[in-house]
Amino acid sequence: MSAPQRCAAVVVGSGPAGLAVMGNLLERQLSGKIAWIDPSFQGGRVNRKYREVPSNTKVGLFQAYATAVQPFRSVIDSTPAPNPFTTMAKLDQDKTCHLHHAADMMRALTDGVVKMEQVYACRGMVTAANQAANTGSWTVRIHRSDSQDDVEIITPQLILCTGSSPTFLPMPETASPLQRLDLDMALKPSDLAAFLPRDMPLTIGVVGASHSAILVLLNLVDLARSSHPQLRVKWFTRHGMRYAEYKDGWILRDNTGLKGLAADFARTQLEDAMLPTSEAGQFITKIDCGGGQETAQYQKHLPSCSYLVQAVGYTRDPLPSLSVDGAELTPEFDHDSGNFKNAQGHLIPGLHGAGVAFPERVVDPYGNVEYAVGFFKFMKFLRRVVRY
Ligand SMILES: Cc1cc2nc3c(=O)[nH]c(=O)nc-3n(C[C@H](O)[C@H](O)[C@H](O)COP(=O)(O)OP(=O)(O)OC[C@H]3O[C@@H](n4cnc5c(N)ncnc54)[C@H](O)[C@@H]3O)c2cc1C
Ligand SMILES: NC(=O)c1ccc[n+]([C@@H]2O[C@H](COP(=O)([O-])OP(=O)(O)OC[C@H]3O[C@@H](n4cnc5c(N)ncnc54)[C@H](OP(=O)(O)O)[C@@H]3O)[C@@H](O)[C@H]2O)c1
Repeated sequence: MSAPQRCAAVVVGSGPAGLAVMGNLLERQLSGKIAWIDPSFQGGRVNRKYREVPSNTKVGLFQAYATAVQPFRSVIDSTPAPNPFTTMAKLDQDKTCHLHHAADMMRALTDGVVKMEQVYACRGMVTAANQAANTGSWTVRIHRSDSQDDVEIITPQLILCTGSSPTFLPMPETASPLQRLDLDMALKPSDLAAFLPRDMPLTIGVVGASHSAILVLLNLVDLARSSHPQLRVKWFTRHGMRYAEYKDGWILRDNTGLKGLAADFARTQLEDAMLPTSEAGQFITKIDCGGGQETAQYQKHLPSCSYLVQAVGYTRDPLPSLSVDGAELTPEFDHDSGNFKNAQGHLIPGLHGAGVAFPERVVDPYGNVEYAVGFFKFMKFLRRVVRY
């Protein structure tokens, strides 16, 4: 392994959070290079998995993200038109859009940022980081994609933007065979249509009632009324649908409530008053799992299902192994400051987090606590906390 190089900061992950951290750090004009590590530099999960998903945020917020910091504005100004920024600018700013627009915008920003002189972009995975207690410096180990050799970087600041993936619960035990249907596939209509057989009766169970679950139901209904007429859905939900509500200057359930296309579909087709007569109701049977009935309802209804999609939230992706002077560290994220604490509750210097795995905690005017997940929310949080 070659001698470690020194950098002013190491940013792990190139999804919308990692990209936003890069924009903020470059704007601060730190002395020294900023290392940016990711296996692909392609815009993270939104580009990899969710290009066909309709956004639940307005186009204007993607624009606000893209223009929030000077380094991004420089990339936009130097990218020949037409480009993803000019495409985005032509869309209705008050409406939502498909996420391929946001993904292309991120990839264009990423392409510009990785070319900047102050950036050392390295394709690979950060596997470990050890902090020297006496200096506070991190030695970050990277397994490079294009070489067998690992590299090391020494830095005072390490920022984890490593993302999250769909939560996998154990599959319920059923009398007949039941296969898991991957949530990511269920959110991608083109893959879903190709994967599911068309010429046989097929029932799919869907668990959940938040954005992902409602979009999966929408995708399955679209198939059932077109290419897959024998497809039916059992929808297992333990609570009613919750909607974002637009108040005077703020949004109730801004992070947890249904918005956009998912909210429209839920209101007009899935609500109890609508389902018996709606088009979706021709294909979907709702199974109420509230009040602890889940297990009994699964036992009763899952035997008729061939597949089960669990749309029950997202779980942090595994972190690199972290240590201080070789002793394992289990960091706890502080959702107010963007920093981490150790098991004794003491600040870990030079370790920070952002993105869906490490979001800001917000409290609305009614006192409800939520975690702020979304492109512009990551950017807003970072504008406040990036002081390193
Ligand atoms: C279905 C869905 C739809 C969404 N729609 C919207 C929307 O409409 N509007 C909105 O604002 N937000 C939306 N979000 C929320 C949010 O913007 C996304 O979850 C976003 O992907 C989170 O960005 P991130 O950068 O935190 O993580 P990710 O996009 O997951 O990026 C993490 C990156 O880190 C890399 N990585 C992980 N570990 C390592 C390592 N050890 N070393 C190097 N690299 C590593 C990964 O390869 C990946 O590239 C949506 C989320 C989901 C799940
Ligand atoms: N662009 C889009 O439209 C879009 C699409 C998908 C996701 N997203 C974003 O991605 C993030 C995650 O969204 P998400 O919808 O996947 O998840 P989420 O908002 O984290 O909600 C998870 C849901 O799963 C339910 N749940 C958890 N465990 C369960 C169990 N064992 N059985 C039944 N239900 C269970 C929860 O119900 P309880 O409340 O009862 O625990 C909750 O309704 C959000 O930021 C969202 O905005 C956006």
